Amino acid sequence: MSGSLSAALIPLLHQHQKQHGYISKESMKDFAAKLGVSPGQVESTATFYSMFRFEPENRHSVDICTGISCMLRGSDDLLAQTSKLIGEPVNGFKATHSTDGEWSVREVECLGACSCAPVVAVDGEYYEDAVPADMKKLLQSYKKGRPPVPGSLRKREIGEMKPRTALKK
Ligand code: FES
Repeated sequence: MSGSLSAALIPLLHQHQKQHGYISKESMKDFAAKLGVSPGQVESTATFYSMFRFEPENRHSVDICTGISCMLRGSDDLLAQTSKLIGEPVNGFKATHSTDGEWSVREVECLGACSCAPVVAVDGEYYEDAVPADMKKLLQSYKKGRPPVPGSLRKREIGEMKPRTALKK
């Protein structure tokens, strides 16, 4: 797919997901018809990006990056803690949906913020330098409708090499 076609498609996918919560096969066919490309081209572009959903989700989505930088900085512990909090084992790259209707949690490949690993995205907002103890507070604040300001959970300034508070293992 050409860059200009991607540039046209991605905003449409974002808008559709914002309105409907996910992108169905049918909607991908509609986009393909509108843009004059094959449904396969739309699907291959959409599925390349971890921010797009292809099935209905619970109220909040939690993406835990398990790319190499995040894995080396403790993403497995974040997964284990999140599994405990939602009462379900997080099932790899396929979303796990909590039975209370609140959480859809999945592992994702690199979120593109490796220098601030490990990174968790909640409803698309990035929280960086996360440790397992952060997860309870993070989920509770989203549940209450008062999400924290995105960014480093250790108050790292842009360009700072190390977080001000040491990461705990
Ligand atoms: S590996 Fe996690 S943000 Fe890149």
